[in-house]
Amino acid sequence: MTESVEQHYGNDGIVQRIVEALTQSGFDMENLDPDVLAGADEFHIGGREGTIQVASAININAEHQLLDVGCGIGGAARFFARSTGASVTGVDLTPEFVGAAIELTNLVGMSGQIDFKVGSATDLPFMDDTFDAVTMLHVGMNIADKDQMMSELARVCRPQGTILIYDVTITKKGDLPYPMPWSSTPQFSFPEPVENYEKAAAQAGLRHIGNSDHYDLAVKFFNDPPAAPPIVTLGHLMGPRMMQMKDNAAEAVNQGLISPVMMEFRVP
Ligand SMILES: C[S@@+](CC[C@H](N)C(=O)[O-])C[C@H]1O[C@@H](n2cnc3c(N)ncnc32)[C@H](O)[C@@H]1O
Repeated sequence: MTESVEQHYGNDGIVQRIVEALTQSGFDMENLDPDVLAGADEFHIGGREGTIQVASAININAEHQLLDVGCGIGGAARFFARSTGASVTGVDLTPEFVGAAIELTNLVGMSGQIDFKVGSATDLPFMDDTFDAVTMLHVGMNIADKDQMMSELARVCRPQGTILIYDVTITKKGDLPYPMPWSSTPQFSFPEPVENYEKAAAQAGLRHIGNSDHYDLAVKFFNDPPAAPPIVTLGHLMGPRMMQMKDNAAEAVNQGLISPVMMEFRVP
């Protein structure tokens, strides 16, 4: 199963495509503002707006260490590092994404504050109680075993630490169209209702602080995109197949089958 999730996301030439597009548009690669990457490096509903929702709830500062699980090519990790001052570690299953995350972080001069590692959310390569907060954006839809996932997030987070999950959740029964952005087939797709996350979190001993449903943001994201698209997009990250995935996700949102929800938990 692990291999298939990695195969869905993994592809060569990500940084090259991004750098070529930016160079052609006249950007100076020696002085690149990380914000310029936002169209391609925030692979979740709402893009930057979704990242801001999570950042506004983290409540950490420069003295803290944050783990971003399923970090992709590191867009959210870089934003959290800049907005909180914290040291950030990103971990992801897909080696090509981790490689791109490292390269892009070097490119924007942030490698002193952020590091990245290949690893799985269900078997995190960190000691107990390592981080002050843990974030996870749009990753649980790839993970069948939510109990094991929650238990690992809880294990690596220190007492009183915050765990923020911003995932695509199931809001109504119905068949999802595929390919979806997180999976080409139903076989490796495990989006679930928020209640299942809450149950898994309770099992892991976490306290549930609350949820915020960002359905309106999803409707706007898919139906009302900016008139001028950004220079780099999720097409640079995933290739031409992204268009069909985005259309299918839009259809599922518009039918009310899925919604992005942010869930907040606390380690006792
Ligand atoms: C839709 S992308 C989101 C990436 C990033 N969080 C963001 O918002 O830009 C899902 C990411 O989860 C990663 N992923 C999927 N299953 C995982 C697992 N079991 N452990 C760690 N990462 C996983 C994928 O490799 C991919 O980078």
